[in-house]
Amino acid sequence: MTHLLTTPFSLRGLSLRNRIVISPMCQYSAQDGYANDWHVVQYGRFAVGGAGLVFVEATCVTPDGRGTLGDLGLWDDAHVAPLARICAFIHDQGAAAGIQLAHAGRKGATQRPFDGGVPLTAEPDDRGERTWPVLAPSALAMADGWQTPVGMTLEDIASVKASYADAARRALAAGFDVIELHAAHGYLIHEFLSPLSNLRTDAYGGDAQGRMRFPLEVAKCLRDIWPDDRPVFVRVSAVDHVDGGVEIDDTIAFSKALKSVGVDVVDCSSGGILGAATVGRAPRGPGFQVPYAEAVRNQADIATMAVGLITSPEQAEAILQAGQADLIAIGREALENPNWPLHARRTFGDDGFSQWPPQHGWWLERRAALMKR
Ligand SMILES: Cc1cc2nc3c(=O)[nH]c(=O)nc-3n(C[C@H](O)[C@H](O)[C@H](O)COP(=O)(O)O)c2cc1C
Repeated sequence: MTHLLTTPFSLRGLSLRNRIVISPMCQYSAQDGYANDWHVVQYGRFAVGGAGLVFVEATCVTPDGRGTLGDLGLWDDAHVAPLARICAFIHDQGAAAGIQLAHAGRKGATQRPFDGGVPLTAEPDDRGERTWPVLAPSALAMADGWQTPVGMTLEDIASVKASYADAARRALAAGFDVIELHAAHGYLIHEFLSPLSNLRTDAYGGDAQGRMRFPLEVAKCLRDIWPDDRPVFVRVSAVDHVDGGVEIDDTIAFSKALKSVGVDVVDCSSGGILGAATVGRAPRGPGFQVPYAEAVRNQADIATMAVGLITSPEQAEAILQAGQADLIAIGREALENPNWPLHARRTFGDDGFSQWPPQHGWWLERRAALMKR
């Protein structure tokens, strides 16, 4: 039997060695937006571990669009060099490199999750960090205790769009193969899409067409900058899990529109519009978001990536074989085992180590032979 998970997949001019993608995962470990040795090791080990595509975490397009002061950034040309180093290492290991562009919107200006995760205030916290004004489609706080954002003017909209464009050009200069627009988890682009956070009455709000306008303008702008032979992904919260919020039919309509501006893959996550992804009526179990990837794939006729509590190669393979998604994103399971893709090959019967980097595989091959004697 041919296993789809471990066989190559092509998107435009990019050939991935398998269909396993490392999901973007913020490390909250940057300073002033710069990637450092932590990021080299974090992303490098996933490339060593055999993934087809390694995504670098949500990378902010403006300093005030950061969720935390530890977020990566691409608002300055000087951010390019350390990211280029990461890209080069990922490529050396035979993987493709992706980067997710983000703006936290009204969810900005918080502590790192592992430092408390609460909104920063005007008073410095015990790390000396204090808040800054944040932008959103409407001046509506996410929840009690959260900052009321500044509702964006048309000038703000144009300026943030230009920041996405500049960041995309820098991502290209760094050598990334794939760019992903973060339009999920309650951050700025998602805030435009959801009726729970977009109360605008101008062309960028109101009905679904109006709410999609800014997200589509940004997606189109990334597509225009990104070379024709390289794919563009968009991560969506396919469902808000909150009454009155985004439902799957809205996401199918959005995905059709994304396809029409040249987006290649819709990465189907969910939740986050009113706080943590766990707020709301989400059913949380293995592969709980897979039905969204399936609905978008079948009804919008666009490639999808499934993500969320996908932990075993068999589970991932079944999703691909059933035609529910084209790519499988692995998040926390890869934190536990960065060699997950290489182990998936072994699960499917490849008992050799030829796909492992020789620095490891040469030794493991010989040890395996010894143990067989
Ligand atoms: C430490 C951590 C950081 C994350 N950062 C991001 C991020 O930068 N962008 C994003 O879209 N999702 C982010 N996520 C969500 C993951 O990409 C993924 O969708 C989620 O963890 C569910 O997949 P999993 O069950 O395989 O972990 C993060 C998750 C974790 C655990």
